[in-house]
Amino acid sequence: MSRTRVTVLISGTGSNLAALLADSRRPDAAYEVVAVVADVDAPGLEHARRAGLPTAVVRLTDHPDRAAWDRALAAEVARHDPQLVVLAGFMRLVGAPLLEAHPGRLLNTHPALLPSFPGAHAVRDALAHGVKVTGATVIEVDAGVDTGRILAQRAVEVAEDDTEESLHERIKQVERELLPATVDTLARRLGATP
Ligand code: GAR
Repeated sequence: MSRTRVTVLISGTGSNLAALLADSRRPDAAYEVVAVVADVDAPGLEHARRAGLPTAVVRLTDHPDRAAWDRALAAEVARHDPQLVVLAGFMRLVGAPLLEAHPGRLLNTHPALLPSFPGAHAVRDALAHGVKVTGATVIEVDAGVDTGRILAQRAVEVAEDDTEESLHERIKQVERELLPATVDTLARRLGATP
């Protein structure tokens, strides 16, 4: 069985990318990471470089407007011919060109139990609200802000003395298991489809 080709999009430290790369090295992994694309000079690109993978940075500021950036991002992703596209800490909304090129094949990991606390400050918002349980969610990306179909979810308890950082780190530990497991399950399903 050939392995499902995955392109990963990041903006940050890329610990979820590193987890995907490690998981994809299992002999029976159903997927392989074929490229990593960022919207900024993300430190996480180093994980991809060390793995010898092609990387690219598609900056919003290098394009005349948002629509041009959306097209450039979709074109860069398409160059690597992925069957799945995984947003792993990619901190921008993606536009129609990418969504339309990969219907049902775009995933995102989010540090909260959606539909609670969508958006860019999920951990801070959950803490401010005083929730006792939050978590991680993997969704299918749609045109909304974290509104896509929920594929996987896991809870994380909030401790009395949690800061945004300490809570986010415990959520990321969960994401680093949940995201690769979800990608592998989907890749297996894609591989089984004639
Ligand atoms: C992860 O917690 C991910 O869920 C979050 O960014 C972090 C990236 O960490 N994404 C969002 O908040 C998207 N709205 P990483 O760079 O160490 O993988």
